[in-house]
Amino acid sequence: MAPFTATTSAPVNIACIKYWGKRDTKLILPTNSSLSVTLDQDHLRSTTTSRADPSFQKDRLWLNGVEEEIKTGGRTATCIAEMKKMRKELVEDLDASAPPLSTYSVHIASYNNFPTAAGLASSASGFAALTASLAALYALPTPPTTLSLIARQGSGSACRSLLGGFVAWNAGELPSGLDSHAVQVAPETHWPDIHALICVVSDHKKGTSSTSGMQRTVETSPLLQHRIKHCVPQRMADISAAIHARDFDRFAEITMADSNQFHAVCLDTAPPIFYMNDVSRAIIAVIEEYNRVALLPENGGKRKAAYTYDAGPNAVIYAPAANMKEIISMILHYFPQQDAFKDPFGLFGTAGAGSG
Ligand code: PMV
Repeated sequence: MAPFTATTSAPVNIACIKYWGKRDTKLILPTNSSLSVTLDQDHLRSTTTSRADPSFQKDRLWLNGVEEEIKTGGRTATCIAEMKKMRKELVEDLDASAPPLSTYSVHIASYNNFPTAAGLASSASGFAALTASLAALYALPTPPTTLSLIARQGSGSACRSLLGGFVAWNAGELPSGLDSHAVQVAPETHWPDIHALICVVSDHKKGTSSTSGMQRTVETSPLLQHRIKHCVPQRMADISAAIHARDFDRFAEITMADSNQFHAVCLDTAPPIFYMNDVSRAIIAVIEEYNRVALLPENGGKRKAAYTYDAGPNAVIYAPAANMKEIISMILHYFPQQDAFKDPFGLFGTAGAGSG
């Protein structure tokens, strides 16, 4: 009998409108919608192999070669259970000759082609790749938007990594979470000119996890309530319009405003959370000055780059490809790096925005 195995990759995504806050911590339902760019598969991705076999005693998981415990009722266990349920309902119940894979245990091995500790969104690509590889193993006839409902329960932002290009995660309203899924706003081919430069400011693990940080913010920050009601809905509409119009100036303006508001909300949390450090703030100053000059009428009057920061100090700079050389020289001028471009992981290189 041929082994039941499947291997799938999923890339990292970096949000322009940030997800921060859960309204349901078990189902991972967000307090606001978010929107991200899925990076090119070639640069930062998780690759996951899943195998089902009647001889396996229990579900097991290895991350970068090291076995991790699958906690009962935990996020990984939830994703695996949901995928087995889909296999049973969508394949085995409809076709009596289909192998009963939903009754076998699975062994899952996942690798990141970038350092897990580098403060980049490894949980997003990791849970997206896990969900996609189980979907392939189980031959599910399920579109990525439906799979995003499962990946979401592993790590919220993972739901966006199942689709390429520009992706929205609609917060939804239903208590069941069935309308809280990812949808593609535009494919990568719509605007391949946008590139992402990832500046690893620190590769230390972050002090406050996104899970505990979000909880503290939801419990204590009045600014979060203002953001959810009065800022994010308009920004979601505006950035989607900017993407459809390929209007980088507007895309950059909204992306930077939302990153800054997300970090303001962290500061408004009690006790406050500081994800950025002095180098992160210095990079903001450099990009703001670069844009101030670009915005002068004699220089065209449009922004040329956008920074954004997740729950850590590392900068992601989005820019049209034509500006990247100049931006990299500028960053290297102010933040000299030895061997920056010899980094075997390409972490200081450019990554085309779309998924490959
Ligand atoms: O999915 P999580 O729990 O890793 O949270 C991600 C939160 C941010 O990266 C800060 C924002 C986002 O939308 O990705």
